[in-house]
Amino acid sequence: MKILGTGSALPKKVVTNDDLAQVMDTSDEWIKSRTGIEKRHIAVEETTTSMAVEAAKKAIEAAKISVLDIDLIICATVSSDYIFPTLACEVQAAVGAKRATAFDIGAGCSGFLFALATADAYFRTGRFHKALIMGAETLSKMMDWGDRSTCVLFGDGAGAAVVSAEENQLLSMVQGSDGESGMALKCDNRPVNNLYRQLGAQTYSYTEMNGSEVYKFAVRTVPTAISEALEQAKVPADDVKLYLLHQANRRIIEAVAKRLGQSLDKFPMNLQECGNISAASVPILLDKVCKDGMLQAGDKVVLAGFGAGLTWGACVLEW
Ligand code: COA
Repeated sequence: MKILGTGSALPKKVVTNDDLAQVMDTSDEWIKSRTGIEKRHIAVEETTTSMAVEAAKKAIEAAKISVLDIDLIICATVSSDYIFPTLACEVQAAVGAKRATAFDIGAGCSGFLFALATADAYFRTGRFHKALIMGAETLSKMMDWGDRSTCVLFGDGAGAAVVSAEENQLLSMVQGSDGESGMALKCDNRPVNNLYRQLGAQTYSYTEMNGSEVYKFAVRTVPTAISEALEQAKVPADDVKLYLLHQANRRIIEAVAKRLGQSLDKFPMNLQECGNISAASVPILLDKVCKDGMLQAGDKVVLAGFGAGLTWGACVLEW
């Protein structure tokens, strides 16, 4: 498969750490020193669908293809506007990709890697040829704004890529899941409403995270997954031009760089501007490095995601 074009969208409203310090007991110093995050975009007028559609249109334009060539749309999200129809079907309608088969996948912050792997697997059947893959999230609507240890970390946005079955840019793919540790990062679905199953008053919570468990999981699992992906691709770590990691926390990225023996300069970041946007963070960062002209033909690039599930994914691309 080959990435033909990328696009992204962020909400207009920017909320700084100082803005948060005015409404909860936190500080710019605490958030920045522990995470690297300085601000995040929060959807006020935008929705998950509107941002996904904006990112998709930009990716289709960058790919220079007809929208009718798209035969597959996969949206990775944990915060779609509807339980059904899926976000992917809403995007299909908005961009006019009438020939596409469209569905969502939920893999937390690994979502874009899982979408890429799924598109690649579909291409290998020979029945699909051009896919629009995306990560889109409005995490702000699922935060417990009374839980300062979690709500300060996240932001909203969408990223998209058009990928084609032609050529072989994807040199390797590693994915994994650890459901047994899944409750370290969770968000309840809506309360049960069933005429035949009366549960009385139900407790209902928004995003809850055991931060130190997730931190330990990330610094243990991500370097291993990347090393496996490099080994499969027969690409030495030193030969990689850029490592594009899920943007959760600067300290996690620093730990991964150290474990791989690589300079932090090879790990571009936008978490300082955007916070953690779950499935959207990797494609938004990919779009940024493409727009900034940081990738040339032949460059080796690693993408890696990790998060709720718990799940992880890493791949090596040759640009
Ligand atoms: N502002 C000020 N103080 C805060 C705070 C905030 N926003 N959030 C928590 N604190 C306080 C805690 O209450 C605690 O106070 P106490 O010692 O009096 O109880 C203190 O800061 C230290 O908290 P601790 O949890 O030990 O901090 P930490 O150094 O482990 O950092 C995280 C916390 C969440 C930043 C860190 O665990 C982390 O980054 N985990 C990974 C999370 C992640 O990236 N998840 C998504 C993956 S997809």
